[in-house]
Amino acid sequence: MAFFMHFCGAMEKIIITIDGWSSCGKSTLAKQLARELHYVYIDSGAMYRAITLHFLRNHVDWTNAEAVGHALEEIRLEFVTNHKNGQTEMWLNGENVEYVIRDLVIAEKVSEVAAIRAVREFAVSRQQEMGKKKGIVMDGRDIGTVVFPHAELKIFMTADEEVRVQRRFRELYEKNPNVTLEEVKHNLSMRDYIDSHREVSPLRKAEDAIVLDNSHISMKEQLEIAKKWVKEILG
Ligand code: DC
Repeated sequence: MAFFMHFCGAMEKIIITIDGWSSCGKSTLAKQLARELHYVYIDSGAMYRAITLHFLRNHVDWTNAEAVGHALEEIRLEFVTNHKNGQTEMWLNGENVEYVIRDLVIAEKVSEVAAIRAVREFAVSRQQEMGKKKGIVMDGRDIGTVVFPHAELKIFMTADEEVRVQRRFRELYEKNPNVTLEEVKHNLSMRDYIDSHREVSPLRKAEDAIVLDNSHISMKEQLEIAKKWVKEILG
């Protein structure tokens, strides 16, 4: 690892995008890579989740373009580092919402909100701003296709549906033991469908993205594979 950090630290910084289906480990890999490379990790999904939270709390009718426009004007999103655990957390209008945006109540609505053109324009312009200095790993659905089409390394992650459902179920069950496997399965397939069929920037693999299927590999193995790709680019 020391060699890898030294090797990459001396090099020019790049942009790494990680797109893919819900719950296939994008954020785990993105965090691993950012830590190894001393890059900034940005969870673009957290932005859509925070916007959804704001809409729900304020009873915004998101089928009404004018209401959406006004609501977006009231939203201030920030990624703040938590110095206790070193993780970047999502803040909405001065409040840490990192925990609450992971709830199934948000997951049930976020794909609908993320399909709205004005919402995407709002989020994408902020994401592009964050990538100006490079040295960034960003995960999401349209990062390699729309946000950073010229990124140096684009990874498209996938995993078997059953594996993804189990992973997300374990995560949610820790917070809420009332959650059922059926609910999680239904939510994942609904989000995958909406995310990949929406009119504006649907989820799809960028032509120059490399596919990483992590159904049957460990977190350590996936990191090794991605590190090899980074080395190939920087070398
Ligand atoms: O990555 P996630 O599950 O936290 O993302 C939540 C939702 O946000 C996901 O269902 C689709 C949407 N999303 C998006 O449309 N574009 C992104 N770049 C990231 C997330």
